[in-house]
Amino acid sequence: MNQLSPFFLAALLLLVCACSPKAVKMPADSLALRSPDTRLELKFAVVNGVPTYTLDRDGKAILLPSRLGFELIDRENLTEGFSLVGSAFDSFDETWEPVWGEEAQIRNHYNELLVNLKKESGEAMDIRFRLYDDGLGFRYEFPMENKLTYFKIREELTEFAMAGDHTAWWISGDYDTQEYSYTKSRLSEIRGLNTDTRPYNASQHYISPGAVQTALQLKTADGLYLNLHEAAVLDYPATHLELQEGTLTFRTSLTPDAQGVKGRLQAPCKTPWRTVMVCESATDVLASRLILNLNDPCAIEDVSWIHPTKYMGVWWEMISGKSHWSYTSDFPSVQLGVTDYAHAKPHGHHGANNDNVRRYLDFAAANGFDALLIEGWNIGWEDWYGCQKDFVFDFLTPYPDFDLPGLNAYAHSKGMRLIMHHETSSSTVNYERWMEQAYSLMNQYGYDAVKSGYVGDIIPYGEYHYSQPIINHYHYAVVEAARHHIMVNAHEAVRPTGLCRTWPNMIGNESAMGNEFRANVPPGHTATLPFTRLQGGPMDFTPGIFEQDMAITAPGQTGKMRHTICNQLGLYVTFYSPLQMAADLPENYARFMDAFQFIKDVAVDWDKSLYLAAEPGEYIVTARHPKYATLNSGRLSGHSSVYDFVYKDGRPHDVWYVGGVTGEEAREFDVKLDFLQPGVQYEAMIYADAPDADYETNPQAYTITKRTVDSSTVLNLRMARSGGFAISLRSL
Ligand code: NOJ
Ligand code: CA
Repeated sequence: MNQLSPFFLAALLLLVCACSPKAVKMPADSLALRSPDTRLELKFAVVNGVPTYTLDRDGKAILLPSRLGFELIDRENLTEGFSLVGSAFDSFDETWEPVWGEEAQIRNHYNELLVNLKKESGEAMDIRFRLYDDGLGFRYEFPMENKLTYFKIREELTEFAMAGDHTAWWISGDYDTQEYSYTKSRLSEIRGLNTDTRPYNASQHYISPGAVQTALQLKTADGLYLNLHEAAVLDYPATHLELQEGTLTFRTSLTPDAQGVKGRLQAPCKTPWRTVMVCESATDVLASRLILNLNDPCAIEDVSWIHPTKYMGVWWEMISGKSHWSYTSDFPSVQLGVTDYAHAKPHGHHGANNDNVRRYLDFAAANGFDALLIEGWNIGWEDWYGCQKDFVFDFLTPYPDFDLPGLNAYAHSKGMRLIMHHETSSSTVNYERWMEQAYSLMNQYGYDAVKSGYVGDIIPYGEYHYSQPIINHYHYAVVEAARHHIMVNAHEAVRPTGLCRTWPNMIGNESAMGNEFRANVPPGHTATLPFTRLQGGPMDFTPGIFEQDMAITAPGQTGKMRHTICNQLGLYVTFYSPLQMAADLPENYARFMDAFQFIKDVAVDWDKSLYLAAEPGEYIVTARHPKYATLNSGRLSGHSSVYDFVYKDGRPHDVWYVGGVTGEEAREFDVKLDFLQPGVQYEAMIYADAPDADYETNPQAYTITKRTVDSSTVLNLRMARSGGFAISLRSL
């Protein structure tokens, strides 16, 4: 605060006196930029040498004067003393086609303002603003002609001075994890509620009471939905938003590296985009493509090997405690190349054994899945957790009871692929050591997807999950994987910022609290994530857990998950991901095969998505239309159950899916089917919470109704508490 310029103090005073955000004005000579629909207005000015911006919508303040700049290490700060030496306006309008996504075509339409700033001492800094109808993106650029060439950031000082005490859905700022549940509060309440919860996660670094993570969803008293995030985070640390004490102003707070440096830059270079989405409705937030649009176009020339995937996994049985990733209890410590597994005594609970994998493959193939994930296939799991071990896995050597060539051959004979698992235990050093051999092994046996993981504190020691060098590691893994035609689904990596547009082999990421947190996942969490975590890209939430009682899934375990079966079905439509798991055990699905049918039928790639109703944390209702080009491209493994559903009797049908989820409250919805082709009759299969369903008392009660409907039909559906529904619609 002691850095505030006279302009800011005057502005603050004006604000306090007038009690109205409108009272604060940018100087008359500021540069103004309007969105294509002219409703959003950005103003930029250099006020007493300080770069400053505001954002209005229809003349109402969204962001009050907010400063821009950097504190640098061992050199002059980029905070004041600037002159505006040039500016340029531009506009852009194109429609592009994602390799996979929520719709077949995305419009990228914005007006742009580039300002060139210079200090007398010779430092040059440009700021590029792009204004869309649904929000703002801006980034700093450091041109080649500059007194700055190599420089280190102490802190980025970008501010977002919010114009009101908005409602926020937030998780604590943390340098290592986003695996938290959300708190809904006023901005002014955050500092009082945001406490350090350590120890809670295998790797966790709480920042401060003011710090929260992005994407941050906000709602104004007037009912506008704002969303703060960032796009295209590459070679730069991830940012958090730190609410400045006694204000409603957020300031960026970057993740430091092991030496406390918050970014090492070399001109010419650019930062990630800072984004401010402004929408009239919650459904518009879900429909926004702001983050994707701010990323670069696809960098992969041949994308024919990238395919949406529905998969099962030898996974939940380990997460639930029914079986183990490890093979033996013989070794308190494992050393790669030394420990003799061939003579070890199996403890008898190893999940990834040949018979069990074949059992899953039989079930998944019979039900039309594309792939099977297998965790715990490789040596080292006896000694991987909590010890920050560098030489932890080799990603090459299978356990004695896992026949890698044989199981792949078996999977391929059934038209399926195996998904490789690389738990790095957060030794990025070790993963890079083995990566080329590990990806080559995958190529040798025909694996085309890897789930990687970063559990525990990072090695190199002292680095954080979201620091610049580690962000570069995640990116390196994706680029190397693309070279090997491998799709990547990274868990515990930095939350995505739309990079999947450029690298569509990033078909998944976890980077938030998923179903694996079992009873800790609160009602409303899945109605929040599409507004927050999913703004940056798809999530491997691992939906589809039908058995809530952990003691039934894994005898001896305790705890009950807090959702109904229909809530889990709804997620296949309300969550967008080209990689969707049916996460429960085959034996649990076998008890509910009629409900499981929806998971078989539902598609994972779309040409159209309609967001019918939504409120963060409360409910989401979404309708989606599959992308026929994907179904016909052979990019799914032919026998896929989705293809069978859409091409029933060998001819294409018009197909839609509708899904709904609720939070803590039960709700009724009228779903108007007016998006169906007029005059065409459809068979609707409606999977709904039974009238007496409830996540706590009766989570497995559902009804399945078959009806003939058309575009004039309105379906009245009741969702239980933490419930939902799912509907498949197929033209007759
Ligand atoms: C954490 C991941 O999120 C989970 O899915 C995985 O099974 C474990 N790590 C082990 O790698
Ligand atoms: Ca995880």
